[in-house]
Amino acid sequence: MNKTRLFVALDFNSREEAIEKVRSFEKLPDGYKIGLELYLTCGPSIVEEIAQFGDVFLDLKLHDIPNTMKKAAATVSRLPISILNIHACAGKEAMQSTLDLVREVNPAIRLIAVTVLTSMNQQELNNINVNTDPASQVDKLALLTKESGLDGVVCSPLEVSRIKQLCGDEFLTVVPGIRPSGSSAGDQKRIATPEQACKNGADIIICGRPIYNAKDPIDAIEKIKKELGG
Ligand code: C5P
Repeated sequence: MNKTRLFVALDFNSREEAIEKVRSFEKLPDGYKIGLELYLTCGPSIVEEIAQFGDVFLDLKLHDIPNTMKKAAATVSRLPISILNIHACAGKEAMQSTLDLVREVNPAIRLIAVTVLTSMNQQELNNINVNTDPASQVDKLALLTKESGLDGVVCSPLEVSRIKQLCGDEFLTVVPGIRPSGSSAGDQKRIATPEQACKNGADIIICGRPIYNAKDPIDAIEKIKKELGG
């Protein structure tokens, strides 16, 4: 089984704050996740800066018609990123054409898809008229992602082992919804501890608020890494 890596989510609206945090972490994390908030505040230059400290997962969750989605993905694939994500529910054509163009620009980028957001539960799915349970919806979208040729999915820690069974051990699982014991769930609903995620076979766990809300964020990172066996 692969070793589980820790990427820290940089959910900030200021370049200074993001850089200050990353510096203070002293390369302890294996990588960083830049999401919409930081990217839209700072623009592409923030990716170049953060990439000097570790691998970057650019979490833009692109979702559009195939032509728009692939061109947007191609633009950001010129940045120094190792992982990029799109929404699986954009459909097979959108995923395949995006993958083709991303591979053309930078074949080293792992293109993954969001199945069902970890903030969604049965009730939230029903509210948008998805009347299957979250697990079946995740399975369906993970298989569609695999069929489309992508490298993996973003999924909850509780879905990792099932997805590995369905899509194979090499299919990358990138896992938010990580809550060390004692930390608050916040808006996340399908959650687990770092240790559980690791046992389930997660390739990369993403963690944000439990680290920043801890009294000592460096200690929190070290504890998480210990739970991952490193
Ligand atoms: O603070 P927390 O640990 O909940 O951060 C989780 C991060 O992972 C956030 O940046 C969130 O946008 C992201 N994410 C998620 N669920 C997904 C995809 C990404 O929580 N399905």
